[in-house]
Amino acid sequence: MKKIGLVTSGGDAPGMNAAIRAVVRVAYSQGLEVVGFERGWEGLLTNTFRRLTPRNVGGILHLGGTILYTSRSPMFRETEGVRKAAETLALNNVDGLVVVGGDGSLRGALELSKETDSLIVGVPATIDNDVFGTDETIGFDSAVNTAITEIDKIRDTANSHDRVFIVEVMGRKRGFLALTIGLTVGAEIILVPEVAYSLDQIVRTLEKSAAKGKKSGIIVAAEGIGDTHKLVSEIEEKAGVEVRLSVTGYAQRGGNPTARSRLLANLFGNKAVELLMNKQGNRMVRLEEGKVTSIDLEQVCSNEKQLDLSLMRLAQILST
Ligand code: F6P
Repeated sequence: MKKIGLVTSGGDAPGMNAAIRAVVRVAYSQGLEVVGFERGWEGLLTNTFRRLTPRNVGGILHLGGTILYTSRSPMFRETEGVRKAAETLALNNVDGLVVVGGDGSLRGALELSKETDSLIVGVPATIDNDVFGTDETIGFDSAVNTAITEIDKIRDTANSHDRVFIVEVMGRKRGFLALTIGLTVGAEIILVPEVAYSLDQIVRTLEKSAAKGKKSGIIVAAEGIGDTHKLVSEIEEKAGVEVRLSVTGYAQRGGNPTARSRLLANLFGNKAVELLMNKQGNRMVRLEEGKVTSIDLEQVCSNEKQLDLSLMRLAQILST
């Protein structure tokens, strides 16, 4: 192992820069050279990279986004694209590649590992926290905290006006963000893509809440539950309350990473290099019951992380 490559891919997540810094500095401490491919898989398709050194990754630990840039690359879903990326690794004598990204990027990493002799290691980084095999992904905690800060403020105005707010948070396919955010802001209702909602049930919950003297409420809804604009008018009509919508949107993807996201990035980056030094490829680093370990990439990509639905019930109890 002499030279390793690094790529950030898919949706960016706060802490990706901290992961880049950690990989580069740990790699150099082991006498490795590091190159960073730019704009996700595109960098491997077009052979676009730059040398990364301990010095040129200085001052980025606290920054959101990714200094290597990122993209979602449709061409990488084709075998031809994956083969091209494998050629790029061979052309540049890259012995190991660290792929920092979410679900789709890790699938890409698995496909690439089948076409190349370079060792591939995944580092789970996505605000969605929807990667099988790891308790947490880099960026999740930061995105949760961004939403909490906003919703705490919304709670103030909701109370003053006796209004119900639907707060739409990120998560097109999965509800890990919505569930954790809902639980931590004391939301009266949490809507996730995994569970079909019923308007009647929402109205009943709001009515029960009103009967207990609560005149305002927060509904945290994942973006993947459907049309939240429509839901505003449906609830207004059926429950006879004033409803407003606030969308946290892409703000959740940016901003300074929290201590937790930075810590995960440091530990994951360190572990990724350790795996490569031990000639272990086709793995993903992970947080497993508080410890940093690794798991087979194939296993990550062939399983689905489950949402703990008992937390929905807990959220309900806690918000009464
Ligand atoms: O994967 C992170 C995420 O922000 C999801 O929460 C969201 O649904 C999706 O990415 C948005 O994707 P894009 O950046 O392609 O609009």
